[in-house]
Amino acid sequence: MDYRIFQRSYDVFAAKYDEVFEPQQVPKIQGLAAALDGEPPEPRLDVGAGTGLFARVTGWQCIELDVSRAMLTAPPRPGCVQARLDRLPFGDAAVGTLVSVTSLIDFEPDVAALTEWARVLRPGGRLLLSVLKRENLPALERALARDGFRVDASLDLGLDWGCVATRRE
Ligand SMILES: C[S@@+](CC[C@H](N)C(=O)[O-])C[C@H]1O[C@@H](n2cnc3c(N)ncnc32)[C@H](O)[C@@H]1O
Repeated sequence: MDYRIFQRSYDVFAAKYDEVFEPQQVPKIQGLAAALDGEPPEPRLDVGAGTGLFARVTGWQCIELDVSRAMLTAPPRPGCVQARLDRLPFGDAAVGTLVSVTSLIDFEPDVAALTEWARVLRPGGRLLLSVLKRENLPALERALARDGFRVDASLDLGLDWGCVATRRE
């Protein structure tokens, strides 16, 4: 779906987001973090970070990126990046851990964002990913394999399917 639709809707909804969605997002974040063996390598990039729940819940320092300025300023946090998750303003192999919690929404069958994530993650880097179970999970699993991710753990996160994966060397 066109990213501008998400940008507009999350800009409008930002002030209410935590009140409405924190109860369902926190268990997903805890499930993903618990499935990771060891510390997530730095630097860590949370794409579609929204209001910053992942960093708040885990205590892990992350660069937070989102297309919605209002989500990145509710509450205001330093160092956030307003950008699209499929056009990352980072160099090749610049990231140690990439996090995406329910930010890949209504994706196309080619899941092009995954190619971009593989580009910025260094070999051996970790991916913590969750998407709603209603999404096209077979397409996502195909794209993970295509873009050189090894799925280390496949997770039932309630409303979401999730995984911890490693960018192959
Ligand atoms: C359901 S919220 C999840 C927020 C956060 N990850 C959490 O767990 O609370 C989806 C977030 O993804 C962002 N988003 C959606 N599509 C995006 C895109 N193409 N590029 C960047 N951010 C996007 C939205 O603005 C929103 O903040």
